[in-house]
Amino acid sequence: MEPMYYEEILEVGMEAEEPMTITPVTNLQKIAKAVVIAVRAASTTATAQPQSIEVENPANTFYLRDLRIIRATPSQMKAKPTSWDNLKFGHVYSDHMMEVEWHRDKGWAKPLVSPWHNLSIHPGIKVLHYCIELYEGMKAYRGVDNKIRMFRPDKNMERMKKTAIRATLPDFDAEELIKIIIKMVKVDKEWVPYSNTSSLYIRPTMISTDPNLGIGIGSQAKLFVITTPVGAYYSTGFQPVALLADPEFVRVFPGGVGTFKMGCNYAPTIFIETMAREMGCQQALWLYDNDEKLTEVGTMNIFVYWINEQGEEELCTPPLTNGLILPGITRDSLLEIAREWNEFKITERYPTMEEIRRSLKEKRMLQMFGTGTACVVAPIGRILYKNKTTKKYENLYIPTMEAQPNLMMRYEGEFVIDRTL
Ligand SMILES: Cc1ncc(COP(=O)(O)O)c(C=O)c1O
Repeated sequence: MEPMYYEEILEVGMEAEEPMTITPVTNLQKIAKAVVIAVRAASTTATAQPQSIEVENPANTFYLRDLRIIRATPSQMKAKPTSWDNLKFGHVYSDHMMEVEWHRDKGWAKPLVSPWHNLSIHPGIKVLHYCIELYEGMKAYRGVDNKIRMFRPDKNMERMKKTAIRATLPDFDAEELIKIIIKMVKVDKEWVPYSNTSSLYIRPTMISTDPNLGIGIGSQAKLFVITTPVGAYYSTGFQPVALLADPEFVRVFPGGVGTFKMGCNYAPTIFIETMAREMGCQQALWLYDNDEKLTEVGTMNIFVYWINEQGEEELCTPPLTNGLILPGITRDSLLEIAREWNEFKITERYPTMEEIRRSLKEKRMLQMFGTGTACVVAPIGRILYKNKTTKKYENLYIPTMEAQPNLMMRYEGEFVIDRTL
């Protein structure tokens, strides 16, 4: 059988001309201690499968071999943060960025890595009016051996290509973009934190730059990649989050674009997330439909670990089958790891609010947590639930921090970057 797990190693500064090697590793514990786990497994989404592109035709993709690099001069280089550990998300950016233009008639142009700069844009471009945009979020980590490793970039690229098709943005060759991002991270390697808790967050983005106000497929697009060092999500240990669950608001709906990583999915959530904060919560728990299915938490996938109504130990997360759920790379990794453990039942289905309340009443609930690139796992400690029958708010306390066995912490251990090795 082919090994399922592999480490993707970006050997920055070690072997300059060796951009990436893939080392098969079969022992899960070993990988966990070494750095970050990468799982190669197919994840499916309901719609918009990527089409195969003819890479022989240069217009259909861009290539690493065409990459031009203009390095920042000493005066263009910014001061590095004094501490890597207390960085606010997306406040400080590295010295370089990557850009590549697309035109309907010419296809993709040549990619460019150049010093950080503002974009000059026409006020009529479609992204500013109709949100024709997508983005990805991925990370590079510096290990104890000073090697820099990216976590499952192939999965981000797979998701990005699917989103591009749904967003009517141009397709591209995923391997070429991964290789270009690796090159870009090498140029900015000193921006990859020397820390076992911080990392370099990589934000590939694509926008429609067609300056014609008509609502339709754009004739021009721009793909760019920016990077920002980010600190630990939980610098002072795990802080359980409180969630506002108000069934009046939905994040997504069947046939919509919730399963794609488009910026337009996030703008409408900010009002609700702000409301949640005003009510003493940190994030929203997104419910859907009359039976109040749990879909996602804030911008994370959700996992429920409990003793189910049949008395079985079960890990439950919503399925990817009807387009309501963003197919998280962390979600996929956690499911694969649990399948590898093979110790409890794993179910991909929607838990409902009624089931959550019943499990708490019957003391069957063990843990609830969110998962995502930013934090890996985020414990859920409380749900402020608006009961649609009584119209009153109920506080539901989730024993995530106290529960035994502590599955969430076990997962956290699997993703630890151990600098002492
Ligand atoms: C809505 C939503 N759900 C889930 C996730 C988690 O996905 P991932 O694990 O790939 O970061 C994200 C973050 O990208 C998200 O925006």
